[in-house]
Amino acid sequence: MGQKAISALFSFPKVTEHYSAASAATAFYGDCLDLLHEIPDGSIQLAVTSPPYNIGKKYEKRLGVDEYYEHQRRVITECVRKLSPMGSICWQVGNHVTNDGILPLDVLLFPIFRELGLVLRNRIIWHFEHGLHCAKRLSGRYETIMWFTRPGKNYTFNLDAVRVPQKYPGKRYYKGPKAGQFSANPLGKNPGDVWIIPNVKHNHVEKTDHPCQFPVELVERLILALTNEGDLVLDPFMGAGSALVAAMINRRRSAGADIVKRYVTITRDRLDSAHQGTLRVRPRNRPVYTPQGSITIAPWVDRETAVTDRGRPLPL
Ligand SMILES: C[S@@+](CC[C@H](N)C(=O)[O-])C[C@H]1O[C@@H](n2cnc3c(N)ncnc32)[C@H](O)[C@@H]1O
Repeated sequence: MGQKAISALFSFPKVTEHYSAASAATAFYGDCLDLLHEIPDGSIQLAVTSPPYNIGKKYEKRLGVDEYYEHQRRVITECVRKLSPMGSICWQVGNHVTNDGILPLDVLLFPIFRELGLVLRNRIIWHFEHGLHCAKRLSGRYETIMWFTRPGKNYTFNLDAVRVPQKYPGKRYYKGPKAGQFSANPLGKNPGDVWIIPNVKHNHVEKTDHPCQFPVELVERLILALTNEGDLVLDPFMGAGSALVAAMINRRRSAGADIVKRYVTITRDRLDSAHQGTLRVRPRNRPVYTPQGSITIAPWVDRETAVTDRGRPLPL
């Protein structure tokens, strides 16, 4: 798609209910398999999603693991059929949790991608701080993103678009022909495969009614690295539409589906605000907030003599 066509598409972006190559975004109300049937084979540059985890959230019916696996296999198979030759699939998952233990969904679903001929390029750890405080196991504070492409070297990967600031940018070569010159890449460093990005809970500026949205920064990083302007991004389980919003902000076309009408409405509103430039989004690369001062009493502290960091006795 040429720059002129991309500019025309995004100056007054058309948001449609059904897929069309001429829409900037499609927010489809219904089952993702029905949306996938509308999309031509080989046309998706990036399918990125966080599917239901089958843990009884308000938008899902708990299925048996076999039934869940079979449904995921059908959706993934369609995504692969619609994937462009240089395209990527990113499946972001956590754990399926029962009284009998946890089942990491990347472990469960990985064989499906392999059987469909894709290769895993990275298994990204997304670390965050907020979530349930568990009493009978350690609290879960990461989820994973499996990034797949077709085999071979020909897949889109724009590393420069997602570099992050170096820890020691002033470092210089200390010997050899470049001695004295800065050794760091002026564009920043590779962000690595452990991403620390706050999850969208409570006071997060992006919070909507949806119980588990992608932070825009998370999906934006994948879109910038794995697609170019004008490319098509699909989120088959779009929820509040964070992937579509990130695509719109970065001039990528997008399509998503949800079976809950309210989430489709939220997505449409957010796309509208993204286009107007009024959508509130946490700024990229903002450091994670570190609370100052604490009244937590560490188990190794002597409660009788301990004081707070302001020198007062602890409120015991
Ligand atoms: C984990 S949430 C996705 C949240 C999304 N990443 C966001 O940023 O808001 C999964 C979503 O999939 C939707 N869903 C479940 N089954 C679906 C299906 N068969 N087709 C389309 N959407 C579905 C649910 O309603 C829910 O909103």
